[in-house]
Amino acid sequence: MATTAADRSTIRWEESDDHVVTLVLDDPGQSANTMNAAFIDSLDATVDRLESRRDDLKGVILTSAKKSFFAGGDLRDLIAVTPATAGRSFEAGMRIKRALRRLETLGRPVVAAVNGAALGGGYEIALACHHRIVLDHPAARVGLPEVTLGLLPGGGGVVRTVRMFGVVDALRKVLMEGRQYGPAQALEAGLVDEIAADPQDLLARARAFVDAHPESRQPWDEPGHRIPGGTPAHPGFAANLPALPATLRKKLGGAPYPAPRNILAAAVESTQVDIDTAFVVEARHLTELVTGQTAKNMIQGFFFDLQAVDSGANRPQDLPARTVTKVGVLGAGMMGAGIAYACAKAGIEVVLKDVSAEAAARGKAYSAGLLERAVAKGRTTRARGDALLDRIVPTADARDLAGCDAVIEAVFEDPALKHRVFREAQEAVAPDALLCSNTSTLPISLLAEGVDRPKDFIGLHFFSPVDRMRLVEIIRGRETGDEALARAFDLVRQIGRTPIVVNDSRGFFTSRVIGRFIDEGVAMVGEGIDPATVEQAAAQAGYPAKVLALMDELTLTLPRRIREETRRATEEAGGTWRPHPADAVVDRMIDAFDRPGRSAGAGFYTYQDGRRTGLWPGLREHFTDPAARPADLTELKERMLFVEALDAVRCLEEGVLVSVADANVGSLLGIGFPAWTGGVLQYVNGYDGGLPGFTARARELAARHGERFDPPALLLRKAERGEVFTDS
Ligand code: NAI
Repeated sequence: MATTAADRSTIRWEESDDHVVTLVLDDPGQSANTMNAAFIDSLDATVDRLESRRDDLKGVILTSAKKSFFAGGDLRDLIAVTPATAGRSFEAGMRIKRALRRLETLGRPVVAAVNGAALGGGYEIALACHHRIVLDHPAARVGLPEVTLGLLPGGGGVVRTVRMFGVVDALRKVLMEGRQYGPAQALEAGLVDEIAADPQDLLARARAFVDAHPESRQPWDEPGHRIPGGTPAHPGFAANLPALPATLRKKLGGAPYPAPRNILAAAVESTQVDIDTAFVVEARHLTELVTGQTAKNMIQGFFFDLQAVDSGANRPQDLPARTVTKVGVLGAGMMGAGIAYACAKAGIEVVLKDVSAEAAARGKAYSAGLLERAVAKGRTTRARGDALLDRIVPTADARDLAGCDAVIEAVFEDPALKHRVFREAQEAVAPDALLCSNTSTLPISLLAEGVDRPKDFIGLHFFSPVDRMRLVEIIRGRETGDEALARAFDLVRQIGRTPIVVNDSRGFFTSRVIGRFIDEGVAMVGEGIDPATVEQAAAQAGYPAKVLALMDELTLTLPRRIREETRRATEEAGGTWRPHPADAVVDRMIDAFDRPGRSAGAGFYTYQDGRRTGLWPGLREHFTDPAARPADLTELKERMLFVEALDAVRCLEEGVLVSVADANVGSLLGIGFPAWTGGVLQYVNGYDGGLPGFTARARELAARHGERFDPPALLLRKAERGEVFTDS
């Protein structure tokens, strides 16, 4: 017998004796509810039934049987939409909106009892209810994060938030940043109306609302409703209207993000028409985004690849999961202090060791400072903060490392010192403790030579500032065992970070690839291109940090030292060293002008009290060629993006990277590769003309700028076979 929509209903109807209907969102085929075809059919059928029962129904409560309330659009469907199937996708969205509109105009109170995450489509369903109550639970989140995937909320989210908050507040609070709110913040910002203490309380409060409001309708269906702050028809609003795109342009810095632009247009246009027409306007703006390349890139990188990485696609599969209970952090400097905080926050006991009790205490004080701010902002409580601090024990005595089942070393970047602290630590810690180094440049296999158990030794490369950076690059040395890799992976997940796994090689993956970007920008200065144009190219390509500003942050002497070491290693191995055009610029900046970067108060920029005040005028005087023809900005942007993407392909070819997802996620979360690309390899996939188009353009760049743009064999092979970069 064929399965009918009713058999597969994703919405369960539960009715009380006095005719309050609880609609339980519970997709039988998935662990989370999504807006798939079954849901759309179920919603239509459910609303038909509600309408037919309008006269004897008292009210409706929406809740879910899953851990989350509702997950939103089905991204597998959305990523597959093409211009040819756009009509179908548009119509599916409109069907949902028509049904939700019928729900909110039922004439009976409709309450959302939000028992977990209600993001995107989930919050849009809640917006179509007359009252929103959220459960006080750490996993409960509300908001419309579509913009972070290059999309816009197409289930009525733009239209309803604008009618609820007004254009400016809806854009600022909900739509443009895609902010996710916890229960308390959601209540304060007006995204929900009540907070419930537990699931029972949630349903009791929902029931109380139904009892108190026999008839209920949306504010925008009340006679005389006015959109807060007005519409373009009001002179006051119209006068400020041009400020909206101007603010957006400033924020994006010229980077190619179509979603914020469409959101802004949909928000403003939706105020000028009736609500049903507004839904059509919203759907058209979404359809344009969903068929475009940017949304596909962002869905791939920020959703599918991130999910693959977090769920352990690169973790040795058959080894049991282990948790760390006590970690020793060696070195309480900038990185060690941040790592100690991250571990203690996850409930792990931390022994924070430095050379003196004072230095160790300073490291712990860093956590106290972070917690002070978190308490002030209401992100944690004093009690939770104090408990976290109690878990960090500062010390200068290696014997206090007794009982640690993992060690993370973050002392100065000096191999002899690192060998020494590991020798000292391995005497004290548990006999099979995992041994991790946070080195940013030293080969893991070299550091492993200093310990008795190289199979338990591994790189854990955190990013600065540790409390804000989600990525950790795990580096597998020559002798690192599978078990150490699995344990390192589990530890990174335990502290809520995202672990990519790479093999040991100079610069690993992230530092190596970001180095290519910086070299390219610096080389442009050496070619006589105006430094302001170079910075503009980086901003317009979508990099969060401009390239010369970034170089100043990292300090010019550091890449020079790495360059010298690499050169020595290359020559010792019998290879030929080929200087990069950036080298001469860096050398002159350091040697001739004594401008090694921000920490010295002088670099590509000038500084006052540590703050950037402008590009150093000497750059134009000493490097810029006034007679040069104006730079081709598209080419400058592509040089930056291509040089990183091509090197990522080489990393894959050389086995430094073992998966495409790691490349994309690592580049997005670790080194600021522009989000609109979906990551270094997705950028290649999504380039105009696919891999053949990318290859042709790489050849053009190679002809003009040198062999660093030569397409690697792996790219050529894939282009010829009509393949893309993918793990599946
Ligand atoms: P830092 O200079 O802020 O801290 C190093 C700390 O190690 C100091 O507090 C020092 O007193 C301590 N130390 C020295 N000898 C010690 C010993 N025998 N026992 C215990 N502690 C000792 O350096 P930072 O920036 O925290 O870097 C530490 C490591 O992390 C380095 O290997 C660095 O390459 C790496 N790293 C740094 C990143 C950054 O952005 N700064 C990013 C990723 C990795």
